[in-house]
Amino acid sequence: MPALTLDRLLASIGFGSRKEARALVRMGLVELDGNVLDDPFMELKERPENITVNGEEVPTVEKLYVMLHKPVDFECSHHPRDHRSVYELLPDRFSAMGIQSAGRLDADSSGIILFSNQGDFIHKVESPKKGCLKRYRVTLAREFTEAQEKELLAGVMLKDERRPVLAREIVREEGSVVITIGEGLYHQVRRMFAAVGNHVETLERISIGPVVLDESLGEGGWRFLTEAEIASLM
Ligand code: URA
Repeated sequence: MPALTLDRLLASIGFGSRKEARALVRMGLVELDGNVLDDPFMELKERPENITVNGEEVPTVEKLYVMLHKPVDFECSHHPRDHRSVYELLPDRFSAMGIQSAGRLDADSSGIILFSNQGDFIHKVESPKKGCLKRYRVTLAREFTEAQEKELLAGVMLKDERRPVLAREIVREEGSVVITIGEGLYHQVRRMFAAVGNHVETLERISIGPVVLDESLGEGGWRFLTEAEIASLM
């Protein structure tokens, strides 16, 4: 393995190419433990936990596992059409590191989205076969009847789908309903309620598998997943 030089470290955590990373060092913008580093080829014996670039202390992890509290009116795309991109809510360097969302939320929906630059993790979260259940809290335009609840639990046929999809669990709350599903089909929850004659007004995803939306984040906030959260999904 090549020695871990400062320019390599910076490039590996999204600060551009090695050439661009060297320019940052030469401009005096890189600090370690309070000391400005001036040699871009400096060899690091081990990866430091954090490094300061342009006044901001950043962790040096290469594998990204991130939770975002998505607000409405953001699209889960690098090339949004009608709204801003969720990627604007994350540091730019994450895009340079290849971060992708594991599943999507539509622009009208809010709640938890996970991101990673590790394909196996994204696959585990997205694949219905891996059994990663997702929970959504919805408010509805009309009364939610017993008959609608039974139909959703038994399974409904959605247009252009080959098999019925069913709610794994439904919990009634004061003024809202929490529904658990196993797949991630296009607009699935909205289409399921429409199929039984109701209409979703607001939709918030509150958990993905065992990982629950961290309410302390506030809309638009993000944080790294903990080791325990990553392990629980893998
Ligand atoms: N179901 C929907 O209808 N929309 C989402 O964003 C997610 C699930």
